[in-house]
Amino acid sequence: MPNTKIAGIGYYVPEKVVTNDDLTKIMDTTDEWIQERTGIRERRYGKKHKETTTTMGARAAEIAIQRAGIAKEEVDFIIFATLSPDYYFPGCGVLVQRELGITGSEAGALDIRNQCSGFVYGLSIADQFIKSGMYRNILLIGSEMHSMGLDFSTRGRNVTVIFGDGAGAVLLQPTDEPGKGILTTHLHSNGTYAEKLAFINPGAHGGYHAAHQEEQVDYHYSDAEYGEMFVNEYMVENGYIFPNMEGQFVFKMAVQKFPEVIMEALAKTGLQTSDINMFIPHQANLRISQFVQRKLGLSDDQVWNNIQRFGNTTAASVPIALCEAYEAGAVKEGDLVCLAAFGSGFTWGSALIRW
Ligand code: COA
Repeated sequence: MPNTKIAGIGYYVPEKVVTNDDLTKIMDTTDEWIQERTGIRERRYGKKHKETTTTMGARAAEIAIQRAGIAKEEVDFIIFATLSPDYYFPGCGVLVQRELGITGSEAGALDIRNQCSGFVYGLSIADQFIKSGMYRNILLIGSEMHSMGLDFSTRGRNVTVIFGDGAGAVLLQPTDEPGKGILTTHLHSNGTYAEKLAFINPGAHGGYHAAHQEEQVDYHYSDAEYGEMFVNEYMVENGYIFPNMEGQFVFKMAVQKFPEVIMEALAKTGLQTSDINMFIPHQANLRISQFVQRKLGLSDDQVWNNIQRFGNTTAASVPIALCEAYEAGAVKEGDLVCLAAFGSGFTWGSALIRW
């Protein structure tokens, strides 16, 4: 059975840089608060009406495909991870196929909704398809256009300052080189706290899960038997159409689950933290990554952080950081690379790759 290797990798971030000071002009926040709590100095925002989650994903994908040395038409399966899709449905997988101009191949396209761990989940799915021999050229994309769906009033500041736009992509292929490629992947979730970090409306929940929410929200649904709306005026007026997050709760879970799932991967492969050449954490918050680094006893040159410049780009953060590290020469042939992510759901996962 072959292993799965990353044959090509690429990322794309929009040109527009939005600094913390830029945000202070539209909401009550400060550069000091944001940097102290999150490490973020600036993030990128896509060009509205010109760029989308799909188009950014396509730009990253083109680089990954080109670096893999294959023609776009040879992609035989697409996996697209995002929490900010262009449409409610259909998903970005088919839209990126169209954007890349490869609809003729009629390759399968799968969208996955695993938020910050979407890329690690996608990697694991692709690995199984490749190992089984079902596909040979899988395009995996993580992309987010958060700036279209954030609350830019002071009400949303705890969430809005954290997130940025961008995309990363890899082209995955089988390899027969012994010991190379994806060595192991580990996926977990726990839905108990689904609402602690969530973007609830529009949705078809009809208020069903209200009891699980910290704030007992009455979404003001009518009693009509048919034709209920996904979003109503009350939700819009009260800001229930934006992402919400209980930051401290998320923080505590993240610093527990990151080390757990990394140690699980190391134990499975008989490796140690000292064997890791490069740890690429999902860029949730610099404080979370620093905590995990300390807990695992990793040195600064074993960890790649870029949240300072891009903010949290959710499903795109791991492939963007991995691509940056690769381009900087910090990930080399034979290196052991550890990927790990944690996010809404809660869902989390890890992967070990011998480059
Ligand atoms: N600017 C200024 N003040 C802000 C603010 C902002 N952008 N956002 C929140 N505040 C205020 C709050 O209103 C609160 O004020 P109060 O004490 O007067 O009520 C105060 O800062 C503390 O808020 P709190 O939410 O408790 O802050 P915190 O120390 O937990 O930091 C986070 C908030 C979001 C930075 C932090 O909890 C965090 O990073 N959590 C993890 C988030 C994460 O990683 N999410 C992605 C997971 S994939």
